[in-house]
Amino acid sequence: MKNKILIVGGAGYIGSHMAKMLANTNNEVIILDNLSTGFRHLAKYGELIVGDLADTHLLENLFNTHSFDGVIHFAANSLVGESMTNPAKYYRNNISGTLNLLDVMLRHKVKNLIFSSTAATFGEPEYSPIDENHPQKPINTYGTTKLMVEKILQDYADAYDFNSVCLRYFNACGADPEGELGECHDPETHLIPLILQAASGKREAITVFGRDYPTDDGTCIRDYIHINDLCSAHALALDSLINQQKSGALRYNLGNGAGFSVQQVLDVVQAVVAEDNCTVQVLSGERRAGDPAVLVADAQKAQKELGWQPIFNDLETIVRHAWAWEKQLRNLA
Ligand code: UFG
Repeated sequence: MKNKILIVGGAGYIGSHMAKMLANTNNEVIILDNLSTGFRHLAKYGELIVGDLADTHLLENLFNTHSFDGVIHFAANSLVGESMTNPAKYYRNNISGTLNLLDVMLRHKVKNLIFSSTAATFGEPEYSPIDENHPQKPINTYGTTKLMVEKILQDYADAYDFNSVCLRYFNACGADPEGELGECHDPETHLIPLILQAASGKREAITVFGRDYPTDDGTCIRDYIHINDLCSAHALALDSLINQQKSGALRYNLGNGAGFSVQQVLDVVQAVVAEDNCTVQVLSGERRAGDPAVLVADAQKAQKELGWQPIFNDLETIVRHAWAWEKQLRNLA
């Protein structure tokens, strides 16, 4: 029997890939998205309902109309810098929106939630790689809002038998291997799409934020994880809740467990785009505030407990998929 899954934020980067994966594996997908950062054309693998988590009437109607087996919640504002200058927006959308969702889920006895969390809940790393026992001391409002929801979900598990899995992503990247979906952020702030935009001519150059970090080549190290690998972890987590193999409030870190420096990413991208005779102009700039030198996940818990295995774990494949998408966007393909 098909499961009916609500994907909140399903017209965004990660949500749209999730919808495709679930729709292709015998699930019925309903997408709720306010299209503030998502795109109608990315929501092609489920019925799209345009609406906001602030709209409690819409939520009530949605849950009256559909009987959901589970919910995956991606809808959030996620720009670290903006979260520091406009925290009200982040508390309102990320916390109060989520509370509205939880209220309607509880009222309708839908008790399985996968929640999109982040490495930003950990703050400055105290050791590396970062496992689930690492202290959570976020250093920006974005990370704080995600950690607050993690705590809310723990309380809901204790009080209401509400089941949830919080997945803390490290650096989500790449694109649909079949070329149908990819990243469309505006503004774009992430390293790989920015370098690719410099290669495609969408922007002039990429600036490396700091070359004086305590790493081998002086640039920051991050854990880049392919979007489809992220999505497969969500699918496994959802399955384990729906089939009642797991319950309570669970948390897993998701990354490849291997770090790459900004310079290493640049080297790989430059080699890939050179095949299309494209080049990247690279500038060196100051450090960006709030960037830790190294952020790498220990994702063994997800591997052991969910049976998750990332399959696109080499950087070149990630970059090739993202480049194919960028070329399509700029009509270079
Ligand atoms: N970088 C540059 N130049 C750029 C953009 C980024 O050198 O123009 C560097 C950053 O300094 C960082 C690395 O590339 O060292 C990766 O930066 P991203 O902005 O792509 O990703 P972050 O590691 O900053 O952000 C990720 C997630 C966030 C999350 C954060 C947690 O995308 O959602 O990790 O720290 F909040």
